[in-house]
Amino acid sequence: MRNFLQLENVAIEADSTGISQMLSETPIFSRGSGCWLFDTSGKRFFDATGGSGAINLGHQHPRVIDAAMVQLQKLIHTGCKLQSDIRGELVTKLGTFSPYKQCAVLFTVTGAEAIEAALKVARAYTERKLVIAFERSYHGKTTGALMATWREELKAYSVLPENGILHSPYPILHSLNQNHSTEFCLEALKQTIQQAFDIGYPPAAILLEPIQVTEGILPAGREFLEGVIAIAKSFKCLTIFDEIYTGFGRCGTPFYASQPGITPDLMVIGKALGNGLPISATIGNPAVINALPSGIQTSTFSGQPLACAVGSVVLDIMLETMPWQQARRTGTLIVEFLKELAINSSLISAPRGEGLMIGFDCVDCQGLPSPELAKAFTKKAMAKGLIFFCGGFEDSTIKLTPPLIVNEEEIQFLMSTLAQVIAELETDNSHYMEKLALNLTP
Ligand SMILES: Cc1ncc(COP(=O)(O)O)c(C=O)c1O
Repeated sequence: MRNFLQLENVAIEADSTGISQMLSETPIFSRGSGCWLFDTSGKRFFDATGGSGAINLGHQHPRVIDAAMVQLQKLIHTGCKLQSDIRGELVTKLGTFSPYKQCAVLFTVTGAEAIEAALKVARAYTERKLVIAFERSYHGKTTGALMATWREELKAYSVLPENGILHSPYPILHSLNQNHSTEFCLEALKQTIQQAFDIGYPPAAILLEPIQVTEGILPAGREFLEGVIAIAKSFKCLTIFDEIYTGFGRCGTPFYASQPGITPDLMVIGKALGNGLPISATIGNPAVINALPSGIQTSTFSGQPLACAVGSVVLDIMLETMPWQQARRTGTLIVEFLKELAINSSLISAPRGEGLMIGFDCVDCQGLPSPELAKAFTKKAMAKGLIFFCGGFEDSTIKLTPPLIVNEEEIQFLMSTLAQVIAELETDNSHYMEKLALNLTP
């Protein structure tokens, strides 16, 4: 009998998955444990990507593995239209964990799918079509979610009509530019909504991330969120928080919307709910969610027993250990440390973040964003066993979103590695400046 290696077909993974996008030297991982990933040679790397923000409880958490193993042996899959005991259990627990006194859960599989579900709910509830999203937003890459995602080169693949969406300015709290201020952006939002009415498409919903992650760790700030909710109410449209990344303790509270006074009509959750298994949902008041008629939003794997079993134990662990408290303490420590570094280094600026969602920018000698430096930073850190993503709307932000369970020793490793990388880049930079000065000398 022939085996796979004897077959002649050649297979490669599509470029578009982005695996090769980060750095050509990205290792191939074969094992994970807590905050660490291990490559095929056994070398360990501190995972400050946190599995793209999905591994809040760390890789291979023993209780998550146990719950998955038990469920694997009982019932993996029913198809979305048949109920299971574990799915009902997760719904009840999500209700307890959510900021809604009465909570309905609309299960989906990925974040982007959940965003599309939320937009459908908003359209059904308001009987309006248009959605307002924000500049630099990221809501996923399926063709429907792309409508709300901000980057032009991504949005170009959306199949939805142009008049389905308007993008309004979103604050950049560390910027001195008046057009990035909370006041300016709230005023601009009112104008965007007016524009929607003027073109004959009153908005169904305003969709936003409480902290923009993909485009550079940019917190909206409480004042902006309160303002958005108040403005949405006055125009009778819904507010939807995309908490796919900010949820499940990441930013120092169970959800961003768990803070009193900033609870939106709908929340979209995903990533850390499955701590590595794909499961997502739109949640909100039943009167809103159930405006969407039965059967309009289903997919084969939504509410799958295996993923629900993991979601259920994730919530147990969260309620028992409240990892958001640790995330808040640790995050403050790391941001303070980065601020110290930024005082002494001209290569990094604007350390910021909430909980364990932390970012800072790499800048050149004129203080301008430097994508080259961000890449060099990432590469040097990786050589020292620390991985994170760099990117953002100026391609120069270093983004740190480690698991929330990071311990003292690991925090020290993270901070000392960042400090070493900055020191090396300072040395490289001074050599470069010296060379530049010599070349410029007539
Ligand atoms: C804020 C936000 N929304 C939506 C998504 C899309 O989620 P998914 O990749 O699971 O489709 C992401 C993914 O990174 C995200 O960060």
